[in-house]
Amino acid sequence: MCGIVAYVGPRQAYPLLIKGLKRLEYRGYDSAGIAVASGDIKVFKKKGKVSELEKSALNHPKDSNIGIGHTRWATHGAPDDINAHPHKSGNGRLTLVHNGIIENYALLRTALEKEGHEFISETDTEVLVHLIEEVQKRDNLPLEEAVRVALTRVIGAYAIVVMDRDEPGKLVGARKASPLVIGIGENEYFMASDATPIIEYTKRVVYLNDEEIVTVTRDGDIQIKTIGDELQTPFIHELDMEIEMLEKGGYDYFMLKEIHEQPSTIADCMRGRINLEPASIRLGGVEEHTNRITRANRIIMAACGTSWHAALIGEYLFEDLARIPVEVEYASELRYRNPIITEEDVVIALSQSGETADTLAALEMAKSKGAMIYGIVNMVGSSIARMTDAGSYIHAGPEIGVASTKAFTGQVSLLSMMALSLAQKRGTISQSRFQQLVNELALIPEKVAKVLEYEEQIKYIAGEIKDSHNALYLGRGYNFPVALEGALKLKEISYIHAEGYPAAEMKHGPIALIDEQMPVIVIATNKSAYEKIASNIQEVKARKGMVIAVVTEGDTIISKLADYTIEIPDTEEPFTPLLSVIPLQMLSYHIAVMRGCDVDQPRNLAKSVTVE
Ligand code: G6P
Repeated sequence: MCGIVAYVGPRQAYPLLIKGLKRLEYRGYDSAGIAVASGDIKVFKKKGKVSELEKSALNHPKDSNIGIGHTRWATHGAPDDINAHPHKSGNGRLTLVHNGIIENYALLRTALEKEGHEFISETDTEVLVHLIEEVQKRDNLPLEEAVRVALTRVIGAYAIVVMDRDEPGKLVGARKASPLVIGIGENEYFMASDATPIIEYTKRVVYLNDEEIVTVTRDGDIQIKTIGDELQTPFIHELDMEIEMLEKGGYDYFMLKEIHEQPSTIADCMRGRINLEPASIRLGGVEEHTNRITRANRIIMAACGTSWHAALIGEYLFEDLARIPVEVEYASELRYRNPIITEEDVVIALSQSGETADTLAALEMAKSKGAMIYGIVNMVGSSIARMTDAGSYIHAGPEIGVASTKAFTGQVSLLSMMALSLAQKRGTISQSRFQQLVNELALIPEKVAKVLEYEEQIKYIAGEIKDSHNALYLGRGYNFPVALEGALKLKEISYIHAEGYPAAEMKHGPIALIDEQMPVIVIATNKSAYEKIASNIQEVKARKGMVIAVVTEGDTIISKLADYTIEIPDTEEPFTPLLSVIPLQMLSYHIAVMRGCDVDQPRNLAKSVTVE
């Protein structure tokens, strides 16, 4: 949610910042802006995507080696040119980019207005840059000190980078609850919301911690201090990421690439964690905290969006296999509803980005109540990964399409391994059943590859339903969360209203919506409720609904009832979601493309939601 990038060093700043903003565009694309110093500081900003900014900034200085950039997901103020970042201080000396929300901005603004400050935008960010200016003027402080003192008066979340016209060659960054990564090159520094704009220049990065301020200079200095004025030693990480992971690799969209990567990303998630002879599963985080997790009173899974759907599958897996009671919570609800959480509880957070503000806030609350926090995260070094007591990365690689695909199957793969590992440790399944399930789990990547071969058939079905205004997704048991996920994918990227429902609940409401215009996508692979789901399909057909059924290969009964069928390979029931979600991802993708939608950057959404 908002991306920031900054550079100081020997290279030309403008092209590097533009490229960085394009990498960060998945975080928001309401407006974009850049400030580069060349004598004075020149600001270019424009409503819309980075490509619009480029068109309007043709006269940018070519000799600048320092600058900051921003791509915005609007919170305070409309997405227009004026509210776009960077923002300048009243005296024109300071320029700042910000990701997050300053909660006490209205109070600060009133106080600053009394001091004579005038504001031109509606943003909380402009208040912040005026506040820093005020502190700097009043006490005649160097930039980093003015930032530090100003931030002691700020309530809220921020990652910021500031430039000072009168201190050329210096960038000051700071973070609280919004990410900031510093890249360390040869006599050059980068700052960004994540490592993607940095990776092609250096793999050496420092993840700034909450309430820390970093100062970098053209002379090669880096200094990190806390807001409480304590000096910190920078801890340098080596990034395990290649530039190819950030490119489309011949696909039209990142989402399509990410759908097709799933056989390998699921295999990567399992690599080194599963053994077949004899069967064993080893997840570092679980092994180190076996007692605490296996003896937990209950497990609470907290997440948002697609990660919440993965968590719901986790509930089915953990209760079915490991017999541990599980509650699944929307992180935003868990945080604000005074829940009962004790030291005997384990809270599992699921997050692709590891930066979702609602999830972070829920975890902090659960931590304060003494619960153990376990993270299932994709982005290495992210805020959630760093604040948990233990965890497992899903190793899906950077996911850039806003609609999550490979992260979802990574999370479900991880949850499947975790449920099996806990089941074995708690003795809730026999060794022979454990062996059977582990063998089957190891086959999932090749079965996903098989589902991907049905793309042409799925594309054809997409063509048949692309003009619908509504769609209903039905599933039972393990496939109910998949129905929710299928519906979310469709509405996110093609703007068709879609609802996911437990198939049997249809008769308690949604059945009233069914007519010839309404495609009903039924995930009908379940072994345990096969006849029941066949009856649900009959109920749809009796009302002239169009049925698209996802069935198990070789199915003869439901295939005859449905208008269209998509086959997936047979598997053990707990692992069905890993296969049944794939055709739903592809269906949404092709419908969105046929409707002319921007698949990777759907309207109003952002990939990393760092505001509550
Ligand atoms: C946003 C994204 C979704 C994602 C959700 C949770 O809404 O558009 O794709 O599922 O945030 O994100 P997280 O990074 O915590 O999984």
